Amino acid sequence: MCGIFGYIGTKDPLPICLFGLKQLEYRGYDSSGIAGLYGKEIVSCKEAGKISGLEKKLALKPLALDLAIGHTRWATHGKPTHLNAHPHFDRASSIALVHNGIIENYDLLREELKRDGTHFASETDSEVIVHLIAKYYQGSVLGALQRTLPQLRGSFALALIHRDHPGQIFATSRECPLCVGFDDARTEAIVSSDPNAFLATTPNVVFLRNNEIVKVEKNQTSFFNYSLVPLVKKSERIDSEFKALSKEGYEHFMLKEIHEQPATVQKALLGRIDQAQIHLDLKLSEEKLKQLRHIWLLGCGTSAHAGWLGTLLFEDLVRIPSSMEIASEARYRNPILTPDTLVVAISQSGETADTLAAMREAKRRGSSILGICNIKNSAISREADSTLYLNAGPEVSVCSTKAFTSQISTIALFALYLAKLKGMSDAQLHYYLDELEKVPGQIQQVLSRASELQAIAKKYAAYEDFFFLGRRYMLPTAMEAALKLKEISYVNANGYPAGELKHGAIALINERFPVIALCSNIQTHEKIASNLMEVKARGAPVLAFAPQGMEAVASIADDIFWLPPAIDPFAPFASTIAGQLFAYYIALERGCEIDQPRNLAKSVTVE
Ligand code: M6R
Repeated sequence: MCGIFGYIGTKDPLPICLFGLKQLEYRGYDSSGIAGLYGKEIVSCKEAGKISGLEKKLALKPLALDLAIGHTRWATHGKPTHLNAHPHFDRASSIALVHNGIIENYDLLREELKRDGTHFASETDSEVIVHLIAKYYQGSVLGALQRTLPQLRGSFALALIHRDHPGQIFATSRECPLCVGFDDARTEAIVSSDPNAFLATTPNVVFLRNNEIVKVEKNQTSFFNYSLVPLVKKSERIDSEFKALSKEGYEHFMLKEIHEQPATVQKALLGRIDQAQIHLDLKLSEEKLKQLRHIWLLGCGTSAHAGWLGTLLFEDLVRIPSSMEIASEARYRNPILTPDTLVVAISQSGETADTLAAMREAKRRGSSILGICNIKNSAISREADSTLYLNAGPEVSVCSTKAFTSQISTIALFALYLAKLKGMSDAQLHYYLDELEKVPGQIQQVLSRASELQAIAKKYAAYEDFFFLGRRYMLPTAMEAALKLKEISYVNANGYPAGELKHGAIALINERFPVIALCSNIQTHEKIASNLMEVKARGAPVLAFAPQGMEAVASIADDIFWLPPAIDPFAPFASTIAGQLFAYYIALERGCEIDQPRNLAKSVTVE
């Protein structure tokens, strides 16, 4: 996982490369670097840490460049140090290379190269590639790639330059996203991991497929397969509705994005409900949807939590069996997928490697795929049979907030659409749509009392261990709230089924182990009240997020945050906002880096 960006054209490549890398920083921010050609010399600059560090270094000593490639890294092999930062170079410094992905057989290749006398400057798997290309280079970069690439196992996208080939960037990919963009007049070209990093002037895009190579020049882009047979590839046009990203006065993107949720949930519904009927622009026929017998949801992290909520929504609203699998597990399972199974791949970025791989495997087995994505032109949205977009706008904070509530809004809408196709009455549909349309208001109510959560968070900020308990709809919600807390506050937080605690995990409970109880599932509220009595009896401080009027919980909890009432299927929204704010204020109190937490990246494009 990492971001690759390259530029060749009429403008100064340095600021453009820095701009592109910043757009790709969501893919990793352990280190960054730029290398370019100036005449026949390779020049470079790299720095450990975020791109702002590289930018400062370059401001002191700018590079004069004819063209450039750049990289922002999420460390897999080797620590996030200056030495391991990309670009990597061959011994003679004639090649500079940036790599995204993992070379699974790098250790064997490294040993072989060492035996030939190659000296390695870094601990990365990536460095073997540049030495192999140098080893096979006999005047043609394409020829060297032809010999190198078949030796690499794993997934990769890479871009490289060679000092004997001024005016050219070479790139290739296998199971990792990479695309080339260019302007209408063909005066400039970009190589990027993501078309969303393109310039407004380069709206034409060609996505590389597996095992394709591209040679990018100012006025020409040539594609080849591994046998170096030229390929004819069509370009697509993308909307480059680039908007500068701004915190709009908020201290962090995370807080801004939390506060956007009344609007983003509304946007997920916008244009999809008309005269109490649901209109989804699906490329799956109604006939096919009516015949569905099983829904298999896939996702990772927050998107997996949305998927778990989806299984409850499909079961309750559509009465159709559904199951959720974490994509990294799903891809190695042997699932029973029949033509009447619909696979729903959920991903904010649409680029998550595990989700993409699991979805591809399901497609290979003949299933139809519905993508639920935020990012247009992302790999999942391109490969799915149909995609429902979240329309939530860019989510910058690594810790996902608004994407989650948009995912559950979109899944709920799709569930109701399916339910209607399968015979839900108009009266029932109207009832649920009315309840769904109340959600933005409920979210707003929680946001307007953010200061109460801040005060509660202050009280809990020093604890190192937390349980988040929930039942039914509150279980995935509790897991999501716990993920928020561990991700940005670095404390141990577990989302756990409230009724399961007594089967072992309750042994952990003591007065230093607070329990946050998500009590908004009305059907089970008496049960969770009993579970809270059990932890209270063992000394745990108890904080409850409960719907107004749930007195049974109020008498047990040490602290309570009242939530607006909602029906069980839509109760996750308000509770989620409370969980997000609680995590945010704890992280703030602990002085943690909120928008870019340590060890993480926004989009996880490695296995
Ligand atoms: O882009 P995706 O939705 O596929 O990303 C999946 C996870 O990596 C992501 O949700 C991650 O768990 C978030 N950082 C959680 O806040």
